[in-house]
Amino acid sequence: MSQPYDWNPADYDKNARFVSTYGNAVVDLLVEQFGGSLQGKVGIDLGCGDGVLTLRLQELGADVLGLDASPSMVEKTRGLGVRAEVADGHHFTVDSPVDFVFSNATLHWLKRPDEVLDSVARALKPGGVFVAEFGGLGNVAAIMTAIHAELDRAGLPSLERCPWYFPAPGVYQKRLERAGFTLQQMIHFPRPTPLPTGMRGWLETFAVPYLGDQPKETQDQLLDRITDLLAPALRDEEGQWIADYVRLRFVAVRG
Ligand code: BEZ
Repeated sequence: MSQPYDWNPADYDKNARFVSTYGNAVVDLLVEQFGGSLQGKVGIDLGCGDGVLTLRLQELGADVLGLDASPSMVEKTRGLGVRAEVADGHHFTVDSPVDFVFSNATLHWLKRPDEVLDSVARALKPGGVFVAEFGGLGNVAAIMTAIHAELDRAGLPSLERCPWYFPAPGVYQKRLERAGFTLQQMIHFPRPTPLPTGMRGWLETFAVPYLGDQPKETQDQLLDRITDLLAPALRDEEGQWIADYVRLRFVAVRG
């Protein structure tokens, strides 16, 4: 959400439907925190994307508002009959404090985590819960290494273009505590992820912030090289690409 990138919902649906599918487990974790029901609970879906999980939260009884930096995604979410607004996750505000903040596959796009956590803490009632999952240290490590190697070789400084933040669990715990949260649970786990449209489809959706300012021809050349470099590590003998996802999933309570 720190990127001024407006996602294309159709591409996202084709190349990244698995993001919300896997996110159902995070919804389940949130529901558990409220004893099995979200009825009457007020919350925020931080980084609601195309609204598929926001709708599920609403169907489970929550009064939920989706926030996303992408106007196209917000429009898509509203089209599902769910309230949604364009917002920067580093600095969002709510009219009155909420019972929960939920976030799936968004926090790694927000490169100033302390600002995000301060906004989440301000949005929650005392005792309110923050349940989230995002990329942890080691997430897409092979993919990232290949992108950085090829960009640097092409004279495009990769580190300053990198749009992602993938923290170690201990480091993120300290950030949560500094912002006034008590960590209830956190897991850091590998989740090898089959890619429905292969590495090229994944890169075309997720690596845009690295390359979006380059001419189409340069982008295509770099994406081809990155894909070739990754094939021996991430494509199986039947041709299925499996991305090296590593997730950080946690429940934290605002003091
Ligand atoms: C993820 O959801 O883990 C992810 C998103 C963008 C880049 C890499 C990974």
